[in-house]
Amino acid sequence: MSTKSHFLLALLFLNLEVFAIPAQVPLQAPETQNARKLRGRFLHITDIHPDPHYKVDASHTSSCHRNKPKKEKTRAGYYGTPFSECDSPFSLTNFTLDYLDKQWSSEIDFVVWTGDNARHDNDRALPRTTKEIYDLNRVVARRMEDAFLSKGIPVIPSLGNNDVWPHNILMPGPNSITNEYSSIWKSFIPFPSYQVFQRGAYYSAEVIPNSVAVIALNTMYFYDSNKAVGGCEYKEPQDPGNLQFDWLEVQLEMYRDRDMQVYLTGHVPPSPGNFFPECYVRYVELSLRFQDTILGHLFGHMNADHFSLIEAEDLQLPSVESSQHHLDRPHQESKYDLFDTLIRDFGDLPKSERKVDFDNYAVINVSPSVVPNPYLPSFRVFTYNTTGTPKKSIKRKHGHRHGGMGDKKTECKKEIYADTWWCKLSKPWYSDPDSPSRTNTLWSPLGYAQYNIPEKRLDSSSENRKPKYKLEYLTFPLELLHPSSEAADAKGDFAYPIPLRHLPQSLRSPNSTKMKYTPYQLPDLTIPSWVELARLLADPKEKKLRKQFREYMYMGGEEG
Ligand SMILES: *[C@@H]1O[C@H](CO)[C@@H](O)[C@H](O)[C@H]1NC(C)=O
Ligand SMILES: *[C@@H]1O[C@H](CO)[C@@H](O)[C@H](O)[C@H]1NC(C)=O
Ligand SMILES: *[C@@H]1O[C@H](CO)[C@@H](O)[C@H](O)[C@H]1NC(C)=O
Repeated sequence: MSTKSHFLLALLFLNLEVFAIPAQVPLQAPETQNARKLRGRFLHITDIHPDPHYKVDASHTSSCHRNKPKKEKTRAGYYGTPFSECDSPFSLTNFTLDYLDKQWSSEIDFVVWTGDNARHDNDRALPRTTKEIYDLNRVVARRMEDAFLSKGIPVIPSLGNNDVWPHNILMPGPNSITNEYSSIWKSFIPFPSYQVFQRGAYYSAEVIPNSVAVIALNTMYFYDSNKAVGGCEYKEPQDPGNLQFDWLEVQLEMYRDRDMQVYLTGHVPPSPGNFFPECYVRYVELSLRFQDTILGHLFGHMNADHFSLIEAEDLQLPSVESSQHHLDRPHQESKYDLFDTLIRDFGDLPKSERKVDFDNYAVINVSPSVVPNPYLPSFRVFTYNTTGTPKKSIKRKHGHRHGGMGDKKTECKKEIYADTWWCKLSKPWYSDPDSPSRTNTLWSPLGYAQYNIPEKRLDSSSENRKPKYKLEYLTFPLELLHPSSEAADAKGDFAYPIPLRHLPQSLRSPNSTKMKYTPYQLPDLTIPSWVELARLLADPKEKKLRKQFREYMYMGGEEG
């Protein structure tokens, strides 16, 4: 790192107040003497990637670090460079966090923040150092405290693959990295989770005490690019991925016993392409086994906006070839782009809705990044149900058998499969059509609003012209944007799923008919609603919907 950027970072620190808030306090901070009134919304922000070496007018090809090309089009912009390989200038990081602080902190209950708070290692002339990575993380963490935690809003960070040096590599903990983040994130991690965090960099936090918790996973122990771990192999019970799943299972059991609901969050989204095979199968199994307790799965890392489905089918034994393959652990690279892969996966869903057994699914939501590398700066605000009454306590429901094991019995006698997780996971499932992940009731996610800075606004921004976050789309149907008069009477402004001032003018009237922002029309974000959308996307006749989905995925650009 150059002396100049050291100086910049030093300046950043000087200007920051350090909050030494013990972890329990946020939920009882001043405003909240009688618990802060729930807004029914939370923020998901991810992949900020601030870059202290970013230079305005530098060339894209230098990662915006040097040179000044003749063509204006290939120069780095003041607030960032859309669809480029450049990371975020601090002007963008500051602008985004200032904006969220001023315009959104009074509207949300908690913040899910899923990692990558250092620049990429994409410039050979300027390799990253451990110190730079920690400094950048510390700067962003202090901004998060300032914007949210200081106001009593819990923030739940998780570790990204670029938050460690070298990137992707994390040894079993405790180690210097888990120690450093124990310190950087001290104010975010609830005291009871602190010891577990020091070992594995994962933890859980009750964001609505006694009702809703967020479990922040350390996906580095599941990510198949991390060559320092074994990948959850059954034969290695002390593998850090296995220890994390053992812990997760206990957490889920405990929250279920307490009749609570949880979000699972983390950086790298669970998928056969991202996770080691046996880590993936454990993730799938826990997601389905505890479907009645898990509200959703929120991840980052991919930068491209999308959702994918976890399916009971994923628990089937892999073919002998692919499992032998897995013994050499190749890097799984797909020939298809993400859009095509998802459309193909959705195509395997039953054609008739009546044939869908919703016990067999979970939904992974991947939020796009703040960094405009390779798309546009964005963030997401979720709305959830705060008024419903649960029909019954889920814990009274017993687990039930499921088809997961199928014809495994004979296959599992074969040596190649015998000691693998595929053959060991047979506990009863807890799924319940009345649970909040399956039907709209108390704590169910209802929808989200996706915001970004459009390409033109980012391109035309300058020192004197700030960019602007604009609504990109909503998952809601138009008619749900305005509450019934009873709901408005009972909840006032919080009855609106999205505050009116954060909607474009054309949607603020209750009789707006503008459909541009609401192509999905999802009544809520329960599993059946997502599966229905996936089934529609699988239908080749739904050309317009597919086009829209693709456009949101790459924000109008191409896959990066
Ligand atoms: C970003 O914010 C920090 C702290 O508020 C400040 O010290 C720094 O100068 C800002 N940087 C830019 C580029 O705006
Ligand atoms: C919340 O859940 C209840 C059912 O418990 C339902 O009646 C109500 O419409 C839901 N609220 C919203 C805003 O969807
Ligand atoms: C509803 O639409 C009508 C025109 O169709 C308009 O005159 C009226 O002002 C609108 N109502 C509201 C509350 O905006």
